[in-house]
Parts: sequence; structure tokens; C-alpha cells
Amino acid sequence: MAATRTILITGGAGFIGSHLVRLFVHKYPHYHIVNLDALTYAGNLANLQDIEQAPNYTFVKGDIRDQEYMQVLFNRYGFDGVIHLAAESHVDRSITNPLAFVETNVLGTVNLLNVARQTWKDDFSGKRFYHVSTDEVYGSLGEEGLFTEETPYDPRSPYSASKASSDHFVRAWYHTYGLPVVLSNCSNNYGPYQFPEKLIPLMINNIRENKPLPVYGDGKYTRDWLWVKDHAGAIDQVFHKGKDGETYNIGGNNEWKNIDLVQKLCDILDELLGHAAGTSRQLITFVKDRPGHDRRYAIDASKIRRELGWEPSIKFEEGFRQTAQWYLDNPGWLQQVISGDYQDYYKQQYD
Ligand code: NAD
Ligand code: DAU
Repeated sequence: MAATRTILITGGAGFIGSHLVRLFVHKYPHYHIVNLDALTYAGNLANLQDIEQAPNYTFVKGDIRDQEYMQVLFNRYGFDGVIHLAAESHVDRSITNPLAFVETNVLGTVNLLNVARQTWKDDFSGKRFYHVSTDEVYGSLGEEGLFTEETPYDPRSPYSASKASSDHFVRAWYHTYGLPVVLSNCSNNYGPYQFPEKLIPLMINNIRENKPLPVYGDGKYTRDWLWVKDHAGAIDQVFHKGKDGETYNIGGNNEWKNIDLVQKLCDILDELLGHAAGTSRQLITFVKDRPGHDRRYAIDASKIRRELGWEPSIKFEEGFRQTAQWYLDNPGWLQQVISGDYQDYYKQQYD
């Protein structure tokens, strides 16, 4: 069957990207999905093993910063749409190596915008450039309030500054050149295939290994957690039904203080591992805080709910349990990603 649309997904071998690629490959058999990923430490083709033979799926190894190569790909495949997730995504790494974040998140995004515009040659009918961004661009909340689409940008880490900058460039291409763009800004995701540098998989892995659970500062920093498959579902809605030039906030309406979340995780894992109640909580260790640590994020997702009919599908307790169980059921995946470079990263970050 000839594909009715050819979609480029960047960063599809990463955490969220792999869930999105899988969703699109299954849900839209008449689309051709091309997954472009540089396979950095965070990209992993094992995340997509189950669909690698699908007839409507192609993986291409490449770097969004490489203008010539991106142009070759656009010419070869004739993309109708781009869903752009490729990024450096970890705040702690942005503190030790900010330049990598500028290069990929800012320059890489501008490169893609340029290539899309040059290829589509100002005939934008049926085209769409979707930029996937983060709630961190809005800065840090106090005890009260939620981020809306109108909240002024106030990024405070090199990561969020680079994402904020890329968002501005995407909007500039809309206003200046008429490129049909759409954006979304999402809260913290959790679920299978997340690299164990991020809070939840790092804690699960350390509980498995009976290692200290490093909680930054006073542990009262708050995040709004969303099941990754719900984020993929929201991206699907925004890509197909969102309006050009618009931004949609996506969140789980599910705020947790880090310390409460880590304790909850300890209790669930004690149960799943058959440990006595309270065993894993003894591993909790308060450590030096993250510099410039944002106190609280929380999303007002009423726009996407009202306009596109999207809502999170599962409750945190259930998503959390499924996530913990997935990591326990997939020790081979974990072992692969924590070998080699991860050990050096862990030492540098936590020792
Ligand atoms: P991730 O780090 O798991 O994956 C990023 C992917 O991008 C990896 O596969 C990596 O190989 C690839 N990549 C990195 N640099 C590249 C380059 N120069 N060229 C091509 N590919 C490159 O990230 P994630 O958590 O899946 O996040 C995906 C996107 O969603 C990012 O843009 C991030 O800012 C955004 N986001 C993430 C969250 C979250 O909670 N994880 C929340 C909101 C928004
Ligand atoms: O809000 C969306 C963002 O969520 C995404 O844009 C980012 O890509 C993603 O990494 C995530 O950023 P955070 O910095 O919120 O996620 P992280 O998992 O690194 O940390 C979550 C919270 O847990 C944060 O308050 C820091 C804290 N933390 C984290 C680690 C890794 C700890 O206390 N100890 C740790 O070891």
C-alpha cells in the first residue's frame, strides 16, 4: 500500500520518541514513519525492537545538526510532517556541559526549520512542523498557581534556556516565513524505557541494587507526573488536530513532592520484590542540591482538554506500579543501558 503521508520523527530512539514511534506505526499503517536519531547515550534501538520489521517504519541514523544530511533525507523521503523530539534532555548534564544543549537543542532545531522551509519552498499546504517542548521553559512556581500557555518564559537552567530558545525560533519561523508550526509544552514523563539518569528509573535501579537513593536538597521540590503513553497520545492529537501557530500545555494534573514520590516507590518495590515493609526507605539519602533547582512545576492542561478532547488515561498509582514492574521484568534492558558510560556519569554526578 502506498503511504498517504510520510512523517519524520526526530529522537525516536529515545524515551518519549520510542513510545510515539510505536503508537504511530501501529495506529497509522498507511503512514510511512521515518525515525531519525543520532543514537547518543540516550538513544537505544532496543526500545523499538518489537516494530523494527514493520513495513511502514524506517530507522535512519543521523544528526539534526548536519544540514547536508538532513537535506538529503528531506529530498529522499519527501516528508509531509515533522515531529521534532531530538534533544539533549537531562538538566544535570546541562549544568556540566551546557554547550551540547545549545548545539543540539538550539542549532539543531534551527537547522531543521531551515531545511523544512527550503524543501517545502513556501508551499506549505498539507505540511506541519511540530516542536515538542517542556514546561521547564516557564521557570519555577511557588506553592500556588499553574503554568498556562500565556505564562511568560523564565528558563533557569541551561537545558530549559536551550528549549526556550528553540521554542522562540519555531515561532519566529511561523511569523516570519509562514511555516505551519505547532508546539506543546509537557510536564515530567514516566514509564518504560526511560534512561536511569532521571529520577524514577534511577531510584528503581538503585533499589534493585540496594544502593543509596539520592534525594536532592530538602526533597520538597514538586513535579507534575504524566504517563509517557498519555504524552504520546497527546502528541497524536496535537499533530492531527492542533491549530497552526498554537501551543498546547500537556500535564498529568498529578503533583508530587520528590520525597513523597520516592517513599511511594520504595513501598511499591518492597511489595513487588517481597521485601519487608520499610526496607527500601532506609536507602533514602539527602544529597547536595541541584544548582538553580526549580521548586515546583504544575501544568494547566485545560486548553488541550477543551479544544482537542485529550485527557490523561491512567491514574498515577497504576502507572507507577506498571513502571516499577516493567523495570523489574526487563533487567536485560537496564543492564545494557547502565553498563559503560553510565557508571562514569554516575560517579561524576553523585560521588
Ligand atoms: P531522551 O533523552 O530520552 O531522548 C532524546 C533522543 O534524541 C535520543 O534518542 C537521542 O539519541 C536523540 N538525539 C540527541 N541529540 C541528537 C541529535 N543531535 N540528532 C539526532 N538525535 C539526537 O529524551 P526524552 O525524555 O524522550 O525527551 C524527548 C523530547 O521531549 C525532548 O525534546 C524533551 O525536551 C521533551 N520533553 C521531555 C520530557 C520528559 O519528561 N522526559 C517532558 C517534556 C518534554
Ligand atoms: O518538566 C519536564 C522535564 O522533566 C523535561 O523537560 C526534562 O527533559 C526531564 O528530564 C524532566 O526534568 P526534571 O529535572 O524535572 O527531571 P529529573 O528526573 O532529572 O528530576 C526530577 C526531580 O527529582 C527534580 O526535582 C530533581 C530531583 N532529583 C533528580 C535526580 C536525578 C533528585 O532528587 N535526585 C536525583 O538523583
